[in-house]
Amino acid sequence: MNIRQARVEDLAGMQACNLQNLPENYTMKYYLYHALSWPQLSYVAEDHEGRIVGYILAKMEEDVADGDESHGHVTSISVLRSYRRLGLAKRLMVQSQEAMATVYRASYVSLHVRKSNRAALSLYKDTLGFTVKEIEKKYYADGEDAYAMRLSLKHLA
Ligand code: ACO
Repeated sequence: MNIRQARVEDLAGMQACNLQNLPENYTMKYYLYHALSWPQLSYVAEDHEGRIVGYILAKMEEDVADGDESHGHVTSISVLRSYRRLGLAKRLMVQSQEAMATVYRASYVSLHVRKSNRAALSLYKDTLGFTVKEIEKKYYADGEDAYAMRLSLKHLA
């Protein structure tokens, strides 16, 4: 499975993958905004025929609070069901994190995840080393709480 930087022509495939995998969906305008503003931060995983089987959509945080450091944010990541547990999400995360640190000098990367999302939590905590910064109550549209998580990127800069 090949991992490469996402291009504008991949966005429809990424959106299709997102719609299959997650209830949090985005307009094509928002995908385009990511790809055009921070082209180095979003990646796709493709099969041998070039079909998109996973993606990471990521950005630099624009509203940095006073005293906070420049940081990246993972808007969305998912992998099609039959391609899971092959290490694709880990590879997508690592690629994006490296670009956040080296291209944009990000100090850390942040994301939100549902409290009930066991697979993603294990990926973030156990595999990548994220920690929980806070719990955001009723963050999701259906009322579920989110863990706001962070990982320092200072060792990559
Ligand atoms: N149960 C427990 N641990 C898991 C699971 C699982 N089902 N899936 C992954 N992990 C952990 C394991 O530690 C795994 O390492 P191992 O296989 O050596 O044990 C590690 O994460 C790396 O797994 P990958 O193979 O890289 O993960 P995968 O490619 O399967 O993708 C993902 C993981 C993205 C969470 C996938 O299950 C998915 O698409 N889920 C639905 C969408 C989703 O929940 N996305 C995240 C939402 S939060 C956000 O977007 C910011």
